[in-house]
Amino acid sequence: MVVYKYSFVFVFAAVIHLSPSAGLAPVLKLNNGKEIPGFGIGTWLGTNSNELKGDEVQKSVEWAIDAGYRHIDTAAIYSTEDQVGRAIKKKIAEGVVKREDLFVTTKLWNTNHKKEAVLPALRKSLKNLDLDYVNLYLIHWPIALHENASISQTDYVETWQAMTDVLNQGLTKSIGVSNFNIQQLERLKSEGGVTPSVLQVEINLNLQQSALLDYCKAQGIVVVAYTPFGNLFNRQPSAPAPRADDQRLVAIAQKYKKTVPQIVLRYLVELGVIPIPKSLHKDRVEENIQIYDFSLTPDEIQLLKSFDNGYRTLSPLFWAHSPYFPFESKN
Ligand SMILES: NC(=O)c1ccc[n+]([C@@H]2O[C@H](COP(=O)([O-])OP(=O)(O)OC[C@H]3O[C@@H](n4cnc5c(N)ncnc54)[C@H](OP(=O)(O)O)[C@@H]3O)[C@@H](O)[C@H]2O)c1
Ligand SMILES: *[C@@H]1O[C@H](CO)[C@@H](O)[C@H](O)[C@H]1NC(C)=O
Repeated sequence: MVVYKYSFVFVFAAVIHLSPSAGLAPVLKLNNGKEIPGFGIGTWLGTNSNELKGDEVQKSVEWAIDAGYRHIDTAAIYSTEDQVGRAIKKKIAEGVVKREDLFVTTKLWNTNHKKEAVLPALRKSLKNLDLDYVNLYLIHWPIALHENASISQTDYVETWQAMTDVLNQGLTKSIGVSNFNIQQLERLKSEGGVTPSVLQVEINLNLQQSALLDYCKAQGIVVVAYTPFGNLFNRQPSAPAPRADDQRLVAIAQKYKKTVPQIVLRYLVELGVIPIPKSLHKDRVEENIQIYDFSLTPDEIQLLKSFDNGYRTLSPLFWAHSPYFPFESKN
């Protein structure tokens, strides 16, 4: 009875934001009982070759925390972990949040898939972030690479077993995978032992992945949606519609006094996934999370669904000869 009452108060507080530390987005429950904020900030600048020297990602994460984001997505390969760490440190020092209010995700890069490489890679990420633990550690891709970037045959099931070891050491609170397909998730379940708590994949209007979402729902795997805007801002000029000036989308946005990107993010939240849009502009960072004061009608949802055509914004075909390439080998 006491437990029941306590959890009721907690859910109530999270929904109406009695405490600023609860953030703006409702939380979702993971299959290990932990919670994940339902909206996050992305930190990939689209480049992974050079060390990033600026502080644009740090600023973006600081604006995000001020705007009520409590979930931050980074990865070793982004070279932004240090900036993310500085933003967190600053916001904790200012008293805006406590460490336990934040959900920080980072990812194991493809060159560290051998079982003995996983723990050192996570320790290096923690050092970059200047944190004692992350909330979520993901295998970035099912594909393994050698240091010289050629394809390695290391099986992701080996990698997954090492992920469960770092979980047991408390260096991450949850583990999951990114860019895995249904067959690969099934293999983890049958051969790896522990079911991932999270799958992070590309989801946007062009790539809605309904079969994968149904599978994850049935398995209790929470889905995080990367590249949530897809080609809305003409990232790939040859990609199919829609763009942000699509008259049908503009009409919906006007009806709710919202913007087209907000309509798209709201739709993703209604699909049950967690969008992690990236922006280096303060006004956009603030705008993107302001989607919890309206909901879409069935007709509007049907229109947004109609843009699904299986088009992938990210399909690294240069890895197509890996035995573990997860996607169609042609776009
Ligand atoms: N697991 C994986 O393999 C994987 C792959 C890709 C991405 N990710 C994660 O997902 C995050 C998001 O994906 P993404 O960065 O590829 O793409 P995205 O978030 O879908 O789009 C980012 C682009 O949208 C623009 N933008 C953001 N908000 C806007 C708004 N309100 N109005 C107009 N333009 C807006 C940004 O411009 P400005 O910055 O100039 O504002 C940027 O050019 C990444 O940062 C990363 O953390 C993971
Ligand atoms: C890359 O490294 C691997 C493992 O050390 C080696 O087997 C392979 O021949 C190398 N490939 C090239 C192109 O150097």
